[in-house]
Amino acid sequence: MLKRTLAACIAATTMTAATAADVEVLHYWTSGGEAKSVAYLKEKLTEAGVGWKDFAVAGGGGENAMTVLKSRAVSGTPPTAAQIKGPSIQEWGDLGFLADIDSVAQANNWDALLPSVVSDVMKHEGKYVAAPVNVHRVNWLWANPAVFQKAGATIPTTWDDFIVQAKKIKDAGLIPLAHGGQAWQDATVFEAVVLGVGGADYYQKAFVELDQATLASDTTDEVFRVFGELRGLIDENSPGRDWNVATSMVINGEAAMQIMGDWAKGEFTVAGKTPGVDYVCVAAPGTSGAFTFNVDSFAFFAQSDADAQAGQQEMAKQILGEDFQEVFNLNKGSIPARLGMARDNFDSCAHASMDAFVASAQTGGLVPSFAHGMAVSEAVSGAIYDVATNYFNSDQSPADGKSQLVEAIQAAM
Ligand code: BGC
Repeated sequence: MLKRTLAACIAATTMTAATAADVEVLHYWTSGGEAKSVAYLKEKLTEAGVGWKDFAVAGGGGENAMTVLKSRAVSGTPPTAAQIKGPSIQEWGDLGFLADIDSVAQANNWDALLPSVVSDVMKHEGKYVAAPVNVHRVNWLWANPAVFQKAGATIPTTWDDFIVQAKKIKDAGLIPLAHGGQAWQDATVFEAVVLGVGGADYYQKAFVELDQATLASDTTDEVFRVFGELRGLIDENSPGRDWNVATSMVINGEAAMQIMGDWAKGEFTVAGKTPGVDYVCVAAPGTSGAFTFNVDSFAFFAQSDADAQAGQQEMAKQILGEDFQEVFNLNKGSIPARLGMARDNFDSCAHASMDAFVASAQTGGLVPSFAHGMAVSEAVSGAIYDVATNYFNSDQSPADGKSQLVEAIQAAM
């Protein structure tokens, strides 16, 4: 109904946007590449006559945003839509907060447009309550080839080689690994080590199914051993550093590498850098056949006002549109969540991600990111964050790391 009203208004005058519903959108996209991406959503909605009330809460990985969201929801004033994902969508749905946008999804055939690994997460009790904007691959290594050349090092493909090459870079007086010492970034690197050292089956059993015997196996000691080696490969200013500041260290040649999801590519892109020339993207060591997926999505909060509901529906519709999926993902560094999109405008890193997404789904290497809220409940991922960050910032032994992990996960389940 809103759409018809809007169409009539737009036909009459171009100044009628004020009569349309606004959507208040909570998100945590504040870095250069992220801000450019979310600006396109605002633009699409504005074009469709829906006003945008920006509710940005800075803080990589979204922990701050989730805290603010909870307080708004508890006080009875949730935003119209919020950037939440993975099992959290189910948690919010179970609490009765979410609006059903199934009519938009059915009218636009979302079941056919989305891979089931994505659409399953967007539904609560069989009905769509969230719309996916992208698929991020988390297990990436971003490297500056000029720094490698200066140090006489080569880009590593295994964790053992990573340590050897990183030492050469350190000996040349350069920073091997650009890292921001924040719990979620520690967990992101830890996740890459888990996947590279243990492989996808171990990852799935230990960190998705939370199988205690697998968590307590010798592989976990080896994971902590390698993770511990990385302590000496970062610089002393890393505590508290934002992830995009770490990315800029690779961009400007201060550091050789960063382990980060492909939102990092958004930063290289806004800096005008070209993949394969100014920087290199390769799978994190030991993970070339695997793909830790992280799907960003907007969940819609139940609204009593009919205009607000119409605004939500328009937002959901725009998000799955081909145009939005292309432009947003070109800026964000991710690949479209929507199937069958043209690849031509995407770069070589995106092509590698698209290929790995399809190939890993066939081999069992496609696994949800536990560091980015896709695999386990917030309680369990919080426990993993704590263990990873305590370990990385101390001189705990691998055996200590393992026993703390096993205990913390058990307590959080
Ligand atoms: C989100 C990305 C975001 C990144 C840094 C991830 O968890 O999925 O969209 O760019 O955190 O904030």
